[in-house]
Amino acid sequence: KPRLFSGMQPSADSLQIGNYIGALKQWRDMQDDYDAFFTVVDLHAITVQQDPQELRQKTRRTAAQYIAAGIDSTKSTLYVQSQVPAHAELAWVLSTITGFGEAGRMTQFKDKSQRYGTDKTSVGLFTYPVLMAADILLFQAEAVPVGDDQKQHVELTRDLAERFNSRFGETFTIPTATIPGETARIYDLQNPSSKMSKSAESQAGVLYLLDDINVTAKKIMRAMTDSEGVVRYDRENKPGVSNLLSIQSALTGQTITQLEEEYAGKQYGHLKQGVRDAVVAEFEPVRARALELLEDPAELDRVLADNADRAAEVAEETLKKVYDRVGLLRRG
Ligand code: TYM
Repeated sequence: KPRLFSGMQPSADSLQIGNYIGALKQWRDMQDDYDAFFTVVDLHAITVQQDPQELRQKTRRTAAQYIAAGIDSTKSTLYVQSQVPAHAELAWVLSTITGFGEAGRMTQFKDKSQRYGTDKTSVGLFTYPVLMAADILLFQAEAVPVGDDQKQHVELTRDLAERFNSRFGETFTIPTATIPGETARIYDLQNPSSKMSKSAESQAGVLYLLDDINVTAKKIMRAMTDSEGVVRYDRENKPGVSNLLSIQSALTGQTITQLEEEYAGKQYGHLKQGVRDAVVAEFEPVRARALELLEDPAELDRVLADNADRAAEVAEETLKKVYDRVGLLRRG
């Protein structure tokens, strides 16, 4: 089977619906056809300040949500990044072939560093995409299912892999980002021109997988729309309504056109109810299962440790090859 790699940051107590639609749902659908590695990328999370105690919790909670959403740890390898040291080791080597300017062009870095200011922007945040490249290349992954905000990082990964291969000989598989359609990018319900994010300042427009289902329903019913009163998809002029259509379409499998027909002549209230029902139906079982898994953290930790052993074996093989190619002296 071809290899697949993807990951999420444990940057909040719960994943949000964009993570679910943009990534997790695809992971679940793809895991049968790939030798898949799904990672909780805690080393990426510490590029911004984290409370140590909370980080551990968030890491477990993120892993529990992967499993609850249908990632099967007997089919796929589901582990925590920091438990496999090769990630950090390969990242160092890759950083030596990454241009300073090249890294500086990453739009996510530019956005974040602008938001935090130079003093609060860590060097780790700058080299974040290099660590991400290491994640992917360690597993010789062909497929990298991510939301479209990660596209540029996967492009950098491809460039680094090609550069390394041409400088040191064929070593890495060149990965491809598998990105769901335009409508799989989910926006903030209160601020539908910006991407929904776990780290948003206001929680009012963010739908969390683990929130109480009534809270989620309320957030949907209060979503920002517009004054036109017609349910149709128009990302430019009707970002709020379009976003709601995207959510319902992604969860139910109905096309946007089908939904527009269904809501023809109806009001935004009907659309919101439809979205609410779809989200509640999808989230409720996942939430229940995740909370159940979190009642036994020792068992969860054990599954993660077993899976980390499996991941480490594959990763070590690539790392050894890389060290050899680069000319690092092997311990006799
Ligand atoms: P992260 O944790 O920000 O997001 C996890 C996944 O969710 C997708 N996503 C969205 N999709 C649609 N709409 C949204 N509003 C939305 N918000 C987030 C992201 O595209 C992502 O697929 N750098 C990565 C983590 C990472 C990684 C990797 C991914 C580290 N190493 C290697 C793939 C391969 C990140 O920050 O994801």
